[in-house]
Amino acid sequence: MSNLPSGNRDSFSSKFGVIAAAAGSAVGLGNIWRFPLVTTQNGGGAFLLLYIGFILFIGIPVMLSEFTIGRRAQLNVFGSFKKLAPGTPWYLVGFLGILTAFAILAFYSTVAGWTLEYLVQAISGKLLHTQDMEKNFADFSTHPYRPIIWQLVFMLLTAFVVYAGIKKGIEKFTKILMPVLLVLIIFVVIRSISLPGAGEGVKYLFVPDWSAVNFKTVLMALGQAAFSLSIGMGTLVTYGSYIRKDNNLLKTSAQVALADTSIAILSSLMVIPAIFAFSAGTIDQMSPGPGLVFEVLPNVFKSMPGGIIFSIIFFFLLSVAALTSTISVLEVVVAYLKEELKFSRGKATLIGSISISILGVLATMSFGPLADFQIFGYTIFGLLNYASANIMLTFGALLIVVFVGWRMRKIAFMEEISNKGQLVSVMFTIVFFIIRFIAPIAIGIIAVAALFMEGL
Ligand code: PFF
Repeated sequence: MSNLPSGNRDSFSSKFGVIAAAAGSAVGLGNIWRFPLVTTQNGGGAFLLLYIGFILFIGIPVMLSEFTIGRRAQLNVFGSFKKLAPGTPWYLVGFLGILTAFAILAFYSTVAGWTLEYLVQAISGKLLHTQDMEKNFADFSTHPYRPIIWQLVFMLLTAFVVYAGIKKGIEKFTKILMPVLLVLIIFVVIRSISLPGAGEGVKYLFVPDWSAVNFKTVLMALGQAAFSLSIGMGTLVTYGSYIRKDNNLLKTSAQVALADTSIAILSSLMVIPAIFAFSAGTIDQMSPGPGLVFEVLPNVFKSMPGGIIFSIIFFFLLSVAALTSTISVLEVVVAYLKEELKFSRGKATLIGSISISILGVLATMSFGPLADFQIFGYTIFGLLNYASANIMLTFGALLIVVFVGWRMRKIAFMEEISNKGQLVSVMFTIVFFIIRFIAPIAIGIIAVAALFMEGL
């Protein structure tokens, strides 16, 4: 019986379910919309190598730390810290996680809603008949209510999956959606790299340009790795609490990181060669953000034979990637409301999604009616994005590794990750050394820099 989680708490039922759910959280808009552009603009292969280094030496150990905290405590992120460090202020780290989840979902659901509108525009054929893609996007995103409706539809889909629970909701859906996502991406990659002129794009993507690498690029690679793996806010603590005791956490972390990185690279192969084939030379001037996905790519699809099919597939896969991420963020809040404030799952889902939606609608409106409403020079969307992705996530990740490295009992950590001695001790020593010394120093540097450097 000791292999089963305590009580009758819901849990993932299979190893593949755990990987699908955690990879579902990791693979999202960050992989498809941000990674390809950030990589090509910051040294291509050089950035990629740095990124992979950070995934291996920082990302996996932090992910492992989060899983460990959750599985040890068998609770939501707030409850986990309270249980593992009773009578200390460490529960505030859990609280920071809940706040970060709120902020991330508020701005992330804005963009997720846009993907649904574009999916519908692609299906109806309107998108590829559009003359002026910039105007099309501007008209839509500044519209007083259309983007809000799509955002709320997206939140409803998210709430629907979360309400169904861990086994019957999150695991069931991600187990289907993640393989579908992978197959569709590979399908579009094959099309993209077989376009005439695509070879230049592939070269641009992979050939390292070390002259483009500077301090800021290094920080960007680490920031992107953290956001992409969904670390630093308790998503993986929460998911960790649903992982059964017989699951090897280090192996799971490595598999999730591998899936996330592979999809980021595949996304780049999907996007960059296609852009090169049709509008080479524009890539350097593009800023990461809506331009790539909602303006440049629709133009590419317009010029591509069979573009309509590819546009539908692309916006479908983008919506799926976003959905498997949003459910992981909502679950952080729902698990908290359910376990700490004793709401039923239904009520917790309702309260969580409605309150996040209220903030989310304000974020969406900052492209339209609230465009002039600025706080510290940011719109509401901009502030939520900057504060959560750059500051809150980084400080969260820092505090999490410090907790596991210095506060949690070493024996507890060892027990969680060793799976009854399966983990060789030299591996444990390396991982623990990274968690204690390397990860806090590296994340500490980026945390301080993020406060002062914009556009990371
Ligand atoms: N990892 C997701 C992406 O790359 O799009 C975003 C994300 C999801 C960040 C969940 C943080 C999180 F907790």
